[in-house]
Amino acid sequence: MNDLKTQLLPASQDAVDQAGELLRQGEVVAIPTETVYGLAASSLNGEAVKKIFSAKGRPQDNPLISHIADLSMLEMVVRDVPQAAYRLAEAFWPGPLTMILPRSEQVADEVCAGLETASVRMPSHPVAQAVIRAAGVPLAAPSANLSGSPSPTTAQDVFADMNGKIPLILDGGACEVGVESTVVSLAGPKPVLLRPGYITKEQLEQVLECEVLLADAVLHPLKQGEKAASPGMKYKHYAPKAEVTILKGPFSAYVSYVEKHCEPGTFCLCFAGEENSLPCPCVLYGHEKAPAEQAQRLFSALRELDARGAERVYARCPEEGGIALAVYNRLLRAAAFRVIEL
Ligand code: TXA
Ligand code: MG
Repeated sequence: MNDLKTQLLPASQDAVDQAGELLRQGEVVAIPTETVYGLAASSLNGEAVKKIFSAKGRPQDNPLISHIADLSMLEMVVRDVPQAAYRLAEAFWPGPLTMILPRSEQVADEVCAGLETASVRMPSHPVAQAVIRAAGVPLAAPSANLSGSPSPTTAQDVFADMNGKIPLILDGGACEVGVESTVVSLAGPKPVLLRPGYITKEQLEQVLECEVLLADAVLHPLKQGEKAASPGMKYKHYAPKAEVTILKGPFSAYVSYVEKHCEPGTFCLCFAGEENSLPCPCVLYGHEKAPAEQAQRLFSALRELDARGAERVYARCPEEGGIALAVYNRLLRAAAFRVIEL
């Protein structure tokens, strides 16, 4: 599937209409959302969804999130929707929150990858909403990267991974949030946070008025033979070509460590303003006390490291609560869980 001419178009009304037409014909189109760019196809069309898996090189057992434009589409994807889900929808939709619930009959089996549940979110990005409306169906859309590489936060990132594989990419500018949506499962006895994001565990608990459990895989590698609550968690993810190591500790200790270990090909992935104190080339990912900015910059920083030929990367460690938990979770995977306590 490497012979398509891929169009990259600004997201005008004409381009949105063209996207809707392609999606109704069972094609795959890349679209901007407020989190990251998505690779979209109709959630109700199994053959179309298969094209997403092949364009990404995604393992068949990793389910996809369906994107809806309004609540009238909810039951096309999921059923037995509890009050708790409506409370979360009221508080955070449209926005970067995905809920997991029992799947509907209508949604294609390929979307659920063999599970009895499906995941659904209502994106706030106006282009994503317009495309869903133009297609007239929920859109299954994983992040629009090749499986394993950092998620794309610009249309150019998508083009780098998807050129020749899909007919159309809509350019809606850089994504505001920059990391993928928060994923919470409401399919079990207690809510479980499977993937941290911009909507925090604390915010979910406030609305639900109960504890939200943190899936073990958020901060720890799966043990041998362990079953992932969220299949996506078991794969190597977000990884640049370089070997990334997270250095946990105060900045002074980070500087000393890097000074001892700086060789040609070594880069620092650090916070804005720190670059003048470091002996290696630096790629910045936001200010130390600004987790939303770190989230927005992280994936483009990982892509920049590849573009600049980094071989070894020493990363400054984000915090572990609030939005920073999302940043830490992605960085841990980019580092294949290599963390050195200073
Ligand atoms: O922000 C986002 O969520 C982006 C944009 C495009 O909306 N999409 C995205 O999709 O990140 P993807 O496929 O890259 O990540 C979906 C994650 C995967 O880790 C997958 O395993 C998990 O959600 N997931 C989806 N459906 C699930 C289900 N029924 N049960 C458990 N995990 C599920
Ligand atoms: Mg992804």
